[in-house]
Amino acid sequence: MKQIPVKQLARTLHIQILRHNPCDPQSEPRLQTFELEEADAMTLFIALSDIRENQDPSLQFDFVCRAGICGSCGMIINGRPGLACRTLTKDLPDRITLAPLPAFELIGDLSVNTGKWMRGMSEQLETWVHSQGLEQTSIDSLETTMEPELAEQLYELERCIECGCCIAACGTAQMREDFVGAVGLNQITRFQLDPRDERSDADYYQLVGDDSGVFGCMTLLGCEDMCPKQLPLATQIAFLRRRMASV
Ligand code: SF4
Ligand code: F3S
Ligand code: FES
Repeated sequence: MKQIPVKQLARTLHIQILRHNPCDPQSEPRLQTFELEEADAMTLFIALSDIRENQDPSLQFDFVCRAGICGSCGMIINGRPGLACRTLTKDLPDRITLAPLPAFELIGDLSVNTGKWMRGMSEQLETWVHSQGLEQTSIDSLETTMEPELAEQLYELERCIECGCCIAACGTAQMREDFVGAVGLNQITRFQLDPRDERSDADYYQLVGDDSGVFGCMTLLGCEDMCPKQLPLATQIAFLRRRMASV
């Protein structure tokens, strides 16, 4: 006899969210639990949108691309940093706790200002091509050919989406405000490899040769474990540390 497939009952998710509005002097950080029925292929982004639409329009969280590209939906998901748009609720227990990424300025609830942090890091490390002749050269002359292997290496490092998960996962970054983290050290490695950048190792040493840079890293490895783009961050940091140690 033909078996009739039995449809599983949808789970009820209990989503506990750390709520706080730092702009409101009356606001106290508190946990608020929302319940909703899980849908097929539901991501945390979809769950949060459902809560905001149907239960609490004041809930703050960030998203742009919904595809793991823009890096704006990073948050702490059951104690681990991750992207809300790339996290399926079916991979989580029915009780889910969400909190904003630490180390970044809180805008409200799950929304943090990673852009401000990334801009500060970028200015601190001068993450742009430094070339003496740059002012006099045309854009065309910058477009020189590059070995495919090198272009591939640079491309690999440029896959970073500046989501902040590596900073949230790093003990050093929680203790030192000036620590540039794996995201910053990854960028420095990228410019060191770029033949158009004329900075010497001594110049790079000035930027990352102290505890705010490579020597602040305690090889805790949370950055690499939590990077949603699976960048080889610990390997890059070890490479940079060896190079800086020989300056
Ligand atoms: Fe996010 Fe990885 Fe870039 Fe860190 S290195 S900001 S975890 S993509
Ligand atoms: Fe932090 Fe990663 Fe180093 S977690 S301590 S930057 S290896
Ligand atoms: Fe862009 Fe999640 S919304 S990475």
